[in-house]
Amino acid sequence: MEDVVETVLIPEDKIKERVKELGAQISKDYKGKTLTVVCILRGASLFFVDLVRELDLDVRFEFMVVSSYGSGTTSSGEVKIVQDLAKPIRDKDVLIVEDIIDSGNTMSALTKVLQAREPASVKVCAFLDKPSRRTVDFKGDYIGFTVEDKFIIGYGLDYDEKYRNLKDICVLKPEVYMK
Ligand code: IMP
Ligand code: MG
Repeated sequence: MEDVVETVLIPEDKIKERVKELGAQISKDYKGKTLTVVCILRGASLFFVDLVRELDLDVRFEFMVVSSYGSGTTSSGEVKIVQDLAKPIRDKDVLIVEDIIDSGNTMSALTKVLQAREPASVKVCAFLDKPSRRTVDFKGDYIGFTVEDKFIIGYGLDYDEKYRNLKDICVLKPEVYMK
């Protein structure tokens, strides 16, 4: 698998360190509250399971599948809910857990959809942020790392459904998706 990796951007130990910090911050901000944490499948899966174990809070798990990218590396601009939440979120504090904010289309659209259900609050925690790629104005509430405009794989992030299980956050060799 390593032959598709250009560089290791964030190694496993740095990921762990940052997830701990995010967990501590979120625990502090929501102290005394019940938090509905929404894992955006499949990219946020590994981040989600690590993050929730750092939350010193009463939490409820939810999972959603939204469509954004196809097999390429550019956003379609359209967001479809493929699998919705299991329970209503009215009056709940909701934290969306996402792998990466790129164009901003997915999170911008999804937060609007969830806001319309009248929760107490909706915030977004994304492990990675690529602000240089924004096409819509969107800012995450909790960000693990800000990254350059490179295609990222590993720690849940895929290229064409592959490489999600890499332990580190890596940059994909451009020749892989130029092919
Ligand atoms: P956005 O709607 O353009 O912000 O796209 C967000 C989604 O695109 C994320 O949930 C990822 O699934 C995918 N994505 C964006 N950039 C990357 C990347 O560098 N590697 C892998 N997936 C990415
Ligand atoms: Mg995704």
